[in-house]
Amino acid sequence: MTDVKLYSGESIPLEMHKAKIIQKLNLVPIDHRLEAISEAGNNTFLLKNRDVFLDMLTDSGVNAMSDQQLSAMMIADDSYAGSETFYRMESKIQELFNKKFFLPAHQGRACENILCQVFVTPGSIVPMNYHFTTTKAHIVLNGGRVEEIFIDEALQVTSNNPFKGNMDIEKLEALIEQHGADKIPFVRLEAGTNLIGGQPHSLENMRQIRRVCDQAGLLLVLDASLLADNLHFIKTREEGCREKSIREITREISDLCDIMYFSARKLGCARGGGICTNNEEVYLKLRELVPLLEGFLTYGGMSVREMEAITVGLEETMDEDMVNQGPQFIDFMITELQKKEVPVVTPAGGLGCHIDASAFLPHLDRTEYPSGALASALYLVSGIRGMERGTMSEQREENGEETIAHMELLRLAMPRRVFTMSHIKYAVDRIAWLYQNRDLVGGLTFVEEPKILRFFFGKLATTSDWQTKLVAKFKEDFGESP
Ligand SMILES: Cc1ncc(COP(=O)(O)O)c(C=O)c1O
Repeated sequence: MTDVKLYSGESIPLEMHKAKIIQKLNLVPIDHRLEAISEAGNNTFLLKNRDVFLDMLTDSGVNAMSDQQLSAMMIADDSYAGSETFYRMESKIQELFNKKFFLPAHQGRACENILCQVFVTPGSIVPMNYHFTTTKAHIVLNGGRVEEIFIDEALQVTSNNPFKGNMDIEKLEALIEQHGADKIPFVRLEAGTNLIGGQPHSLENMRQIRRVCDQAGLLLVLDASLLADNLHFIKTREEGCREKSIREITREISDLCDIMYFSARKLGCARGGGICTNNEEVYLKLRELVPLLEGFLTYGGMSVREMEAITVGLEETMDEDMVNQGPQFIDFMITELQKKEVPVVTPAGGLGCHIDASAFLPHLDRTEYPSGALASALYLVSGIRGMERGTMSEQREENGEETIAHMELLRLAMPRRVFTMSHIKYAVDRIAWLYQNRDLVGGLTFVEEPKILRFFFGKLATTSDWQTKLVAKFKEDFGESP
């Protein structure tokens, strides 16, 4: 957003884009929503879009595309091998990230699959600032384990630390010392750390990680899926970076890592993914798996139309107005919720607005899935679909015990350039109402529980008839309003 001063003195994020194509939304009545969420087993992943008003489940693959992206899709060169589209994408990646070799993949987790199959073996330890669900699952599937070496403040819900996604350098050094570099196939840094509230890492932290990796002879892998938000935070929060352009910061970040992979459902605002590196040996090893798992080397499971859109989307990510939009809307929403005393993760991060479900529903035990219950309750009273990011998103231990998540969050994602200010005001209003009525919200229990990534399609039941009571209170307060 450009700095525009309002006469009223109020500060609002001002959109630097306008709507050219729109999609109609429906806000179905609360009785219908009660049926829909029950049918979905209280799992917002299982709701049908026709029953959802504001889809804040994720930003993945649902960021609004620009006119430039849509028009680029028309020039896609549709061929199995040697497509011009691929060479355009490869050359954009070489230009922005200064990486010579590029391997396409159909989405972020496909890159993780390839990286883990090549590098992770039984007994491997992969240090990282924080795990992402699919990353951890692939590491574990290949017999390795994740070691999270986040800074102490990473898990403090409210904090002033501008870079809660930083890695603890001393802990990284101690881990390498303790296990030996041989056990560590690579160090993974996640930009815009997804599961702890979209919190960024600093450029300085990355320089320090690079130094440690160089000393130990370790590869540094950057998960750049949420790089756009992280770029914004480095530019606006980090000492000495305000004068740098987004392009310069991008280049510095990519020069610090050996391998960079990304979900283009997020970075580049289309649908796809890829891995890039300057290390030929690494490239050759990874390359083996692309035709086997994804598709030929010049499309990797992606549609060429999406590839064209990604190429343009990556270039557009160098525009400050573009990378600002999500974080500034999130910041606005967090500020408004704080005024109403709703417990939220601070400082405001990227990706979405994160509500602290443990503090919102302190009367629930963590094994009653407070974040899942809050996601279900919020859908019920607003038609807003959020995502559980807490204990439900974890996997049980081998002995069947719950893995209690570090943080119990409800994530309300802010896909880029999708929502308007009145959508945000509506969301704040309904969340604040729910907070006033939080005592009515009860817990959930699994009735169908998949073993892996259970949050995607597991089904849950309410532990009491709390939803009926919540609906009754809603009708009392809002009457006929949906
Ligand atoms: C940090 C991070 N890494 C990896 C992934 C996986 O990407 P995809 O959903 O494209 O498979 C995601 C998706 O949300 C992510 O946020």
